[in-house]
Amino acid sequence: MTHKRVIVVGGGLAGLSTSMKLSEEGVAVDLFSLVPVKRSHSVCAQGGINACNDVARQQGYSEWEHFEETVFGGDFLANQPPVLEMARTAPSIIDLLDRMGVPFSRTPEGNRDLRLFGGSLYKRTFYAGATTGQQLLYALDEQVRHHEVQGHITKYEFWEFLAPIIDDGGRCVGIVAQDLRTMQIRSFRADAVVMATGGNGLIFGQSTMSIICTGSGTARCYQAGAKLGNPEFVQVHPTAIPGEDKCRLMSESARGEGGRLWVPRKRQDSRHPNDIPEEERDYFLERLYPKYKNIVPRDIATREIFYICEQGMGIGGGQMVYLDLTEKATGIPYDVLKRKLGGILEIYEKFVGVDPLIEPMKIYPAVHYSMGGLWVDFAKDEKTGGLRKADPRNHMTHISGLYAAGEADYQFHGANRLGANSLLSCIFTGLFIAPGIKKFIESQPAVAEKTQSLYDNAVQNQQAIMTRLLGSRGTDNPYVMHRELGKAMSDNVTIIRSNGKLKQTLDLIESLKDRYRNNLGLPDSGLWNNQSLGFARACWDMILLGEAVTKAALAREESRGSHFKIPDEFVDRHDLPLDQRALQRDDEHWLKTTLVSFVDGQATLGYEPVDVSLVAPRARNYGKVTAPATNAPTAGAAA
Ligand code: FUM
Repeated sequence: MTHKRVIVVGGGLAGLSTSMKLSEEGVAVDLFSLVPVKRSHSVCAQGGINACNDVARQQGYSEWEHFEETVFGGDFLANQPPVLEMARTAPSIIDLLDRMGVPFSRTPEGNRDLRLFGGSLYKRTFYAGATTGQQLLYALDEQVRHHEVQGHITKYEFWEFLAPIIDDGGRCVGIVAQDLRTMQIRSFRADAVVMATGGNGLIFGQSTMSIICTGSGTARCYQAGAKLGNPEFVQVHPTAIPGEDKCRLMSESARGEGGRLWVPRKRQDSRHPNDIPEEERDYFLERLYPKYKNIVPRDIATREIFYICEQGMGIGGGQMVYLDLTEKATGIPYDVLKRKLGGILEIYEKFVGVDPLIEPMKIYPAVHYSMGGLWVDFAKDEKTGGLRKADPRNHMTHISGLYAAGEADYQFHGANRLGANSLLSCIFTGLFIAPGIKKFIESQPAVAEKTQSLYDNAVQNQQAIMTRLLGSRGTDNPYVMHRELGKAMSDNVTIIRSNGKLKQTLDLIESLKDRYRNNLGLPDSGLWNNQSLGFARACWDMILLGEAVTKAALAREESRGSHFKIPDEFVDRHDLPLDQRALQRDDEHWLKTTLVSFVDGQATLGYEPVDVSLVAPRARNYGKVTAPATNAPTAGAAA
């Protein structure tokens, strides 16, 4: 073992795989997590993990195809070398996970089974029922425990990351963190720090993400000088159960396994769905996308659901469509889907009280994933087109020694992520960057030599923030402010965007910043397990991230992937299809990465080119049928 140490913040798949690999490389790790690592949000991932495999290969699929689909799915906004490296490495990651004991679902012959997932016509998604994230997380957790008992990894669960510590030379040399039980604030030295703190769905109020997904880890690095990449790209998953507290994901694997989206052809049809005959249903994705049908990528499926409902054709005229897994619609026996999708079927039954194999589910899109995140570097290998192995630049943020991995970074997914590429990107990143981080720390003076006052000052700064927050006696409750932020972000900055609404949102954000600074009031000033303190801190972070997302969306005058902009004068032109109302993709002006820096308390925009050196951008519409179809929904078409 080297005597140097690395801190990994975040206990999900990206954090665990980074920790495990660093430890294998002989680097000691301190692993920080807000929650027990097995409760990290990765546990909620359902559908699967993509990799080229032999079955698909025999049909003409390849690692190159996987790469190609991913950059096409991301509407050409992803830097291509990292995506190529990820797709090439994916098959060996599946083998590794299998050897670790992940209980991948099997065919009757005992081979690992595969399913379809969005944006591909090939079955190339490995899965473990509909609880794939949980199985992968538990397998990696066991590996980390193994390193823990050997003394190479030290876990700090229930500790909150507060800030990176940066020395005079601009290098990250540790972190400040708080014990969430005793509220003790401490500094920790580290020769490098890896942020693997996940996404920021909570800035939209409700999402499919866990309530720990505030984006605070990212926001605190952003405030310390790291830049954000492409924050305006926010994935809205087409199929979730809307909820008062949060939305619950109904995996894309439901459609990959044969589930079908439809609405009654008759407006506000009040019949039970099972009583509506086949010819009186509009399977709208099958009608519009005859090639990809129900497995078009998420940005597209989400917009089609939105449009159907905007036309008043949602269930009962409202904002819901059917996701049908019944044998009548799919032709697939009850027991088969029960075995393959049990995890999500149980969730639906628990929260809605209906067996979704007997009666179609009612679903609507929900915020699910942030393609944007901390900007990270990469080192291209000119010979292979992929990445240079063990290069310290890979996944380093703008702050030397501060890395980001998983959903916390912006790499791989461009303007729209393909389903089941997330688990892959998290694990790939962790495994891939560890040797480069080791090289980085070996090239740097040890932080053990750094003066203690650097660390003491960082702790004092955070103590001052805590004291100020605990003493705040204004009338603005952070939970209420968060609700206001979430509502505006959800209403104005998700499926469709218009400059008028984006500006309104920025005005609200400005007023929230002002109220937060001048009139905040904390409901609890205790010094034991004070949850409102952590939430108040996160509330500020979410306001700042909301500002970065909205400003970047306002500036981007085009539609691309999940960012779909409609000029103000067309927002209410419900007589026109969405495609005819929206701005088009504009490669001439907008084939570029957004960079957001935090300058003088404001999000400040900049741009850099995207590396499209391997595949030239081309139009992306998945073969949409533009002529009106004969079975298009008609008001009152059915008796
Ligand atoms: O739909 C799903 O199962 C989600 C998968 C993903 O976000 O990759």
